[in-house]
Amino acid sequence: MKSGLRARLRGRVEPPGDKSIGHRLALLSALAPGRSRLDEFPPGQDCASSLGVLRALGIEVSRDGDAIEIQGRGLDGLAAPKTDLDCGNSGSTARMSCGILAGQRFTSRLVGDESLSRRPFDRVVVPLARMGAAIETTGGLLPLTVTGGRKLRGIDYELPVASAQVKTAVLFAGLYAEGVTRVREPIPSRNHTELALQAFGASPVVRPGTIEIEGGASLSPGRFRIPGDFSSAAFFLGGAAFLPGSEVVVENVGLNPTRAALLDALKAMGADVEVEVSPEAGEAQGRVVVRGHELRGIDIARERVPALIDELPILAVVAAFASGTTRVEGASELRVKESDRLSAIIEGLRSLGADVTELEDGFEIRGAGWGRPLRPARLRSFADHRMVMAWAVAALGVDGVCDIDDLDQVKISYPGFWHTLDRLVC
Ligand code: S3P
Repeated sequence: MKSGLRARLRGRVEPPGDKSIGHRLALLSALAPGRSRLDEFPPGQDCASSLGVLRALGIEVSRDGDAIEIQGRGLDGLAAPKTDLDCGNSGSTARMSCGILAGQRFTSRLVGDESLSRRPFDRVVVPLARMGAAIETTGGLLPLTVTGGRKLRGIDYELPVASAQVKTAVLFAGLYAEGVTRVREPIPSRNHTELALQAFGASPVVRPGTIEIEGGASLSPGRFRIPGDFSSAAFFLGGAAFLPGSEVVVENVGLNPTRAALLDALKAMGADVEVEVSPEAGEAQGRVVVRGHELRGIDIARERVPALIDELPILAVVAAFASGTTRVEGASELRVKESDRLSAIIEGLRSLGADVTELEDGFEIRGAGWGRPLRPARLRSFADHRMVMAWAVAALGVDGVCDIDDLDQVKISYPGFWHTLDRLVC
């Protein structure tokens, strides 16, 4: 492959179905009595972990090409699992299903891989316990046992960290609780759960900063087409922005404003970005075109961080190739993702020769200057899919060959990543 800013990304991308939306629709389909069909179901291992958990709970899931069909059994139709529920690498699977399991008659035990077993679970256990759930962790971590047969009651909960996974766990438990469950969010996180509950007919009450759900709401099955994953597309959008002469067209991609703040950041950096949103109800989606253009550093406001949290690794790469300084604060959540992404970003960019300062909750990057390559390095990904993809794109701007580890981790969210990258690089 060409590199050293002689590489360009050119062509069309249809990203795989959105992973965040896939988890929610699969879990809610299991709770809606009847058959639901999810078109463009995400092909990665993370959503497969959610399907594995559902199967272990007695739910029939079948595949039909890129679609899956789920035979839902109603709020109380899950069966006691005969084995541990294996959430693999997926924080979303583990945290969201915790909310559902808290309301069951049976006891279940959640386990995960090495990375997931290092990630914090008190954030879901604390509010669920306040609702009456009995959950035992291993020092705040997995494995975790959810004791069945507890009566849940609605609570009024203010999220201490902006986390859509925690919000979802509490709202899902709210379906099983007596009365109203209210979640308050000081800084908005992605609203896929609110939209999915609406799509299944559960009628949450959504006001700015607050979501309420009434216990016992009945869900109706349906057919849904999952938009392309913005977080997967982001690697090609970011690459196109800093590689001169690039033009990437991303079709059918999710453009939910609570997810797509990377586009605003790229525009503020001076990138050439065109967005067309399709006029459809529910999840916003459409087409994005990014062309290589001179970039300058920016400050990202703290309140915007949750809307680009998963895109910060690629944004950091883009910033390293821009002119001037990019500063991100309020992103300490990056430390508890699939890896400590703040440390991973800092280590990797430094080894590429970038001028970077690590902050407790963010980073400051003084870019190499528009059109100036970085130097080759060994880039460690810490078995984190998003770090692998960020480094793959960074390597295109390096004068020489980079050595990146854990390449097959892209299977978590974007199994076709290497194939698409190969097709776009010219
Ligand atoms: C997700 C929420 C975010 C995000 C993760 C997916 C979701 O995590 O980083 O990749 O689907 O709700 P937090 O809820 O921990 O912020």
